[in-house]
Amino acid sequence: MTRLGVLLSGRGSNFLAIAEAINNGSLRGCEIVLVLSNKADAPGIDAARQLGLEARAIPSKGIPRQEHDRQMIAALQDARVDLICLAGYMRIISPEFIAAFPNRILNIHPSLLPSFPGLDAQGQALEYGAKIAGCTVHFVDEQVDHGTIIVQRTVPVLDNDTHDTLAARILEQEHQAYAEGLQRVLSGEYRIEGRRYIRK
Ligand code: GAR
Repeated sequence: MTRLGVLLSGRGSNFLAIAEAINNGSLRGCEIVLVLSNKADAPGIDAARQLGLEARAIPSKGIPRQEHDRQMIAALQDARVDLICLAGYMRIISPEFIAAFPNRILNIHPSLLPSFPGLDAQGQALEYGAKIAGCTVHFVDEQVDHGTIIVQRTVPVLDNDTHDTLAARILEQEHQAYAEGLQRVLSGEYRIEGRRYIRK
């Protein structure tokens, strides 16, 4: 059984989608052993506790990034986490963190990477006038929103879209995409060639 750690900073709907996929049996072979947040008041932490999961906040405010990451790494190692899912974890993680879990950290981003990395990807897509938007599940490397892509899902951008309507359409796909990407990684039936994730 692969031991998952989930990192979040906010409401945690992607975390809840993963937890639900595990509970309903559509995502097999893993269990969530730790939910961590850099924010003590993240709603996702309460949601995790309500599900009976181990959830902790390690506040990042006022401490150097490396020190915070060290505390996060220690918590994840203590919990014997095999694979980490960033689920709305709005912090850049240090090279040290990545090196502690090589090819074992996944992220979800609300755009079709490499378009619109960084903050407010949905707003960037709207402002740019993109007609297709979507989300990406990818391995984390040392550049922001950059590592090998595992799954992407698309949605149309409609003429009357607001930020909220587009973000909601993308989020619905995120919830499917994260479980799908995780299942692919858990299966182990892939190889990585250069930047490319290739299914066996
Ligand atoms: C999601 O849309 C996720 O893709 C995004 O934050 C939101 C978190 O929502 N992540 C990023 O933008 C990372 N660059 P959630 O807390 O409901 O899962």
